[in-house]
Amino acid sequence: MIVAIDGTAASGKSTMAHQVAEVSGFVFMDSGVMYRAVAFGFLKYHIESTERGAAAYLPKMNLRVNCIQSRTKVYVDEEDVSSRLHTSRITEMSSRIAMLKGVREFLLEVQHEIGDRFDEDPGVVAVGRDIGTVVFPDAEWKFFVTASPEVRARRRLAELSQTGIETSFQEVCDAIIERDRQDSQRVIAPLKKASDAIVINTDDLTPDEQAAVVLEYILER
Ligand code: DC
Repeated sequence: MIVAIDGTAASGKSTMAHQVAEVSGFVFMDSGVMYRAVAFGFLKYHIESTERGAAAYLPKMNLRVNCIQSRTKVYVDEEDVSSRLHTSRITEMSSRIAMLKGVREFLLEVQHEIGDRFDEDPGVVAVGRDIGTVVFPDAEWKFFVTASPEVRARRRLAELSQTGIETSFQEVCDAIIERDRQDSQRVIAPLKKASDAIVINTDDLTPDEQAAVVLEYILER
């Protein structure tokens, strides 16, 4: 069984997907980490973020993705780089290379291979912006997670202050609204709800309650 989870930025979809994977025993496939690993490779070898750069590098790239329960580990040239992918340089590069058709096609193949391998046993919880629309359009379950910009801003602000970054509520809220606009209007793989996705609004739900909603759907079958 494949459970596809998409949603707006800072909606809580990753936390929810983690918990669902942990309780269900399904493997956790975080597609964002794969884009970040490709960005890592581009930076490592000074590849320019163009279709030409992608066409030259990707056939030679040594990328290995290991989906274990509730974690997606990625290896570049057999080195585990999973914990090194959240720097601002990688974040910036990953959003650039995510716009390249060559990169999306390359990762689509990796994602389909993981889907084929674990669909029957033990099942897959897959998360990412085009998971329900492009990667697994035939997934048994599709969820689209969202929350109001104010609630997402409050959550993001709490996360930021934990890491020592001081900013204002208004600034964070404006950035989230702008990110929604960019994500839904971009030409390649825009954030879009699959027509048959179940919408979960997490405004009034704790992380446990959010996961419980999904688990109730998928485990009742
Ligand atoms: O979810 P994240 O922040 O780890 O994603 C990293 C980058 O990859 C971000 O720019 C969005 C992009 N991405 C994408 O285009 N498609 C996906 N399925 C997952 C991530």
